Amino acid sequence: MAFPITRLRRMRKSEPLRSLVRETHLTPENFVYPLFVCPGTGVRKEVRSMPGVFNLSVDEAVKEVREAHSLGVLSVILFGLPEKKDEIATGAWANDGIVQQAARAIKREVPDAILMGDVCLCEYMSHGHCGIVEAAPQSLGAAVASPPAAATEYEILNDATLELLARTSVSLARAGIDIIAPSDMMDGRVAAIRKGLDEAGLANTPILSYAAKFASGFYGPFREAADSAPQFGDRRSYQMDGANFREAMREIELDLEEGADMIMVKPAMPYLDVIAAARERFDVPLAAYQVSGEYAMIEAAARNNWIDRERVMMESLLSIRRAGASIILTYYAKEAARLLG
Ligand code: PBG
Repeated sequence: MAFPITRLRRMRKSEPLRSLVRETHLTPENFVYPLFVCPGTGVRKEVRSMPGVFNLSVDEAVKEVREAHSLGVLSVILFGLPEKKDEIATGAWANDGIVQQAARAIKREVPDAILMGDVCLCEYMSHGHCGIVEAAPQSLGAAVASPPAAATEYEILNDATLELLARTSVSLARAGIDIIAPSDMMDGRVAAIRKGLDEAGLANTPILSYAAKFASGFYGPFREAADSAPQFGDRRSYQMDGANFREAMREIELDLEEGADMIMVKPAMPYLDVIAAARERFDVPLAAYQVSGEYAMIEAAARNNWIDRERVMMESLLSIRRAGASIILTYYAKEAARLLG
């Protein structure tokens, strides 16, 4: 039945009517709030390219988690800025690593917060790559002292990195991290981490895998926030090519076979098709990460008064939800929760 019998505008007449037929809802308890923890006390250093996002010392991070919690945001994901970086990412798996310290402190103060730990090595490596770097054949075995000029002069070692990722995961879980979230994109990392956790008596610690993580320009501001920009080359030899949809499905399938409990697509808005397809195909909890560049674009346009900040913030989150992600990692978690409350 078509017009004039059918008039879709009938149900748009007022906000109560619109809310009656609203199909998608945002809920604070499905947001995950990312925090960048740094050494020191009383530190709250704003990230230049992410206004409203801070590097926080442990004591400040605790306050932030408490505030998020009071707004209904029960989960946070922790990233660390270590005191020192090296070529085996010691800061990632050390018992007194910065995220380990933060996890203990937060668990002490806000025991029912859900803590996710981003498992990656880039923030802890002097070269800023997500795995162990080996100089290529011409200088095999040599440490990478000066930055190699071309991609052919070094390699990010896959299998050797797995051991460090498993070690990091066990260390984080022991410190109180509830959910292990590997974002490194090495092949086989979920299986390696699962095995590591199980052998350490941590069989009940779930894994949220950044399964389809694309090599993206939208991570730019994060690399400033986490001080994790690669010192040479880029991440295209391990993160996914943005052109590949079918490969994203394979990445997800493999991570689930390896034992991932939940999966993630990242970034969110430029990859809504991948989120929607993953929702259709896989019956597991699905997360999406509204990354730093997505946040920074909205903030920059809003500062110029080119868009209505709150409207665009909520619309961007809604689009991710509508595409099918039930869990949304977003720098807007606190603010969006406040608006929803
Ligand atoms: C670590 C990691 C990154 C992000 C999350 N975990 C950066 C990267 O892969 O370069 C990006 C998050 C964001 O941009 O907000 N590898």
